[in-house]
Amino acid sequence: MPDGVQQTGLKTDRRLTLLEAAIKKHQYRKDALLEILHIAQELYGYLDKDLLTHISKLLRLPPSHVYGVATFYNLFKLKKPGAHVVTVCMGTACYVKGAEEIVSAIERDFNVKRGGTTPDGKLSLFVTRCIGACAMAPNTIVDGETIGKATPDEVLKKIRAVVGVEKVEAR
Ligand code: FES
Repeated sequence: MPDGVQQTGLKTDRRLTLLEAAIKKHQYRKDALLEILHIAQELYGYLDKDLLTHISKLLRLPPSHVYGVATFYNLFKLKKPGAHVVTVCMGTACYVKGAEEIVSAIERDFNVKRGGTTPDGKLSLFVTRCIGACAMAPNTIVDGETIGKATPDEVLKKIRAVVGVEKVEAR
């Protein structure tokens, strides 16, 4: 961390070390903000207020600017995701092959809106731009596992299985 930068409420752990190393590698350049936000999201899974404040301090940017950039791009998550995360690719190829039907089916069946999390915190639903697997469109990622040529039924079944497993384990 450069001199004069106060530590925010972030826990000092390996993620923070890696984030600060990445920012240092980018020489604390303000124009590296987008790249830094991507790295931060990869490390933490989402960008909360403490994290954005810390980044703004390190890059010497106003917090409002950092927050504005993070909210402008809908690929950044600003809230802690649910225990299970489903991401549906809404790139052109996937959209044409029925990604919207998949998203709508999940919204309906699990009572969750895209970009949101169920009230019990079990499931988050996100949409993303092309994930680079257009040949397998439409693609849906359930807890890191990509389902190619996905159908709404198949995706719903997979989500139920994943969410259900946790219920069994909790007994
Ligand atoms: S559009 Fe979905 S993988 Fe390319």
